[in-house]
Amino acid sequence: MCGIIGYVGEQDAAPILIDGLRRLEYRGYDSVGIAVLEDSGGIAVRKSEGRLVSLTSILEESWPHGRQGIGHTRWATHGRPSDANAHPHTDCTGTLVVIHNGIVENHRDLRARLEAAGHAFNSDTDTEVIPHLLEEHLKDGTDLHDALAQAIEELAGAHAILTMSASEPGVIVAGRKGNAGGVTIGYGEDEMFIASDLPALLPHTQRLVFLEDGDTVLIRGREATYRNHGVAVEREPQEVGLDPVSAAKGNFKHFMQKEIAEQAEVVLDTLRGRALFGESRVDLDDMARFCELLPQVRRVLLTGMGTSLHAAMIGRHYFEQIAGLPAECDNASEMRYRGAPIGPETLVVSVSQSGETVDTLAAMNEAKERGCPQVTICNVPGSQSSRVADAVVYTRCGPEIGVASTKTYLASITALYLLACYSAQELGVVDRERLGGFLEPLARLPKLVGETLTHDSIIEGIANEYYQHENFLFLARGIQYPVAMEGALKLKEVSYIHAEGYPAGEMKHGPIALIDRDMPVIAICLRDALRDKMMSNIEQVKAREGIVIALATEGDRELEEKADHVIYVPETSPLLAPILASIPLQAFSYHVALRRGCDVDQPRNLAKTVTVE
Ligand code: G6P
Repeated sequence: MCGIIGYVGEQDAAPILIDGLRRLEYRGYDSVGIAVLEDSGGIAVRKSEGRLVSLTSILEESWPHGRQGIGHTRWATHGRPSDANAHPHTDCTGTLVVIHNGIVENHRDLRARLEAAGHAFNSDTDTEVIPHLLEEHLKDGTDLHDALAQAIEELAGAHAILTMSASEPGVIVAGRKGNAGGVTIGYGEDEMFIASDLPALLPHTQRLVFLEDGDTVLIRGREATYRNHGVAVEREPQEVGLDPVSAAKGNFKHFMQKEIAEQAEVVLDTLRGRALFGESRVDLDDMARFCELLPQVRRVLLTGMGTSLHAAMIGRHYFEQIAGLPAECDNASEMRYRGAPIGPETLVVSVSQSGETVDTLAAMNEAKERGCPQVTICNVPGSQSSRVADAVVYTRCGPEIGVASTKTYLASITALYLLACYSAQELGVVDRERLGGFLEPLARLPKLVGETLTHDSIIEGIANEYYQHENFLFLARGIQYPVAMEGALKLKEVSYIHAEGYPAGEMKHGPIALIDRDMPVIAICLRDALRDKMMSNIEQVKAREGIVIALATEGDRELEEKADHVIYVPETSPLLAPILASIPLQAFSYHVALRRGCDVDQPRNLAKTVTVE
């Protein structure tokens, strides 16, 4: 979950590391640190509890100068956020430094062994065993690459590690074991970069190698030498065509605001060249293996975590309604342990913006072992999930920096819709005319997303009225139910308000007891087959003096008589309506959080990518 950056080259390393950490801070932000191998030959470590700004104020007093270094922004797992627990961690000599992402599951045993051998520890972290373990291996006369290759085999759990030592100047060694987040090597002109995520690399280079599970790499000058489980391997850099500009805030105050505003474009980009309206056909890249496996599919299991799970829940309706396949959706952290009876007849569709979420990857690996065909919806080329799946449908959002997902959620729903259409087409369960009917509303979708975004000031006004309430209920039915879940999640994430999303039919079985004049209820009541049922639920809330903020389809004036506030969304097909209904709820969370003085881009305790269980 933490952000990792490394640099070896001819430039002053510290500013490059700080710039990288600024771009990675969304990964974790409870403490931060860098280590630079100074030109004088010593290793300088600067670290601090808190956000990057606390480190930069330390650096202003004493800026280390050297042409290689490593940096880390932390999301605490073992050991509370503190100066001592911040990375980098050093060995006993202070000449070897390590930064790490993951959990050393056997750290207690290793620490006891190392302490018995005379090693002194300075932190409460699991990570600190790694520099001491490396120190032990180096005593045997091995070099740093060998030492890391050996040490990583001894560490239980999943890991991404960067290390350097004053005794091997010009060298950084990195390793990856399991799914603790990525390690990507960026090839510059006369310099090399290493980072956990693309936003830190793209301003410097687009020539990248993504480390595989079991890889270690020694970076020296412009060269990188790879091994996998100790055996030499070749890894050719690939060019990725991602736009670094989209990772910058531009004229917006916050990334969340920018990413919400970008959604019309993002939906358009996800559709581009794929929904072929003239031919009533869907064209997706690299689907040969998927098409080979598709005929054996009898049902679909969708999975993901957080916002991606909510996209998957909407996708379930697409596979049922468009492709006629029985579909279920399961939280990946539950699916991985459920022992579900799945096999080659179950198509597993995973959704993961990052492609690195540990539970989603574990669920995918479980499905792989059981022989399920798999396709993943993902935003990051080269991510782990893209390698496990038989096929990938990329959302083309560019990097998403706001910790709470917005644009990638809309793009994932759009990609799921395309995938369901494609599956129906390839299975031959829809004729051209029917498929054309599903595709046609997509043509106007980006424009309608744009129109929905123009209601921002109305939503801001409602947020200003209710931002002090401590509880919210989100109600919806059918395909809009996941939208209610996502609306509640977004509000919790960015404003720390307690919010629950419920299927409206369930309201009478408990949540109704909470309703009084202090409880705002956000009711998604768009014009679809379940609208009248939702209207009854709204009446039930009003009968108990609850406050109703309703989302309605443009032109549906009846709601104005019943609800305290109505937010209109343009009409589209019922299957695509969740895309539009999600937008006002994102904007509502954003404005409420701002009024409450919360950090919308980096909410407390959260991380963009969760690579630990
Ligand atoms: C974290 C993020 C969420 C995200 C979830 C799943 O919890 O804070 O915004 O939805 O992980 O991430 P993924 O990368 O798998 O979509």
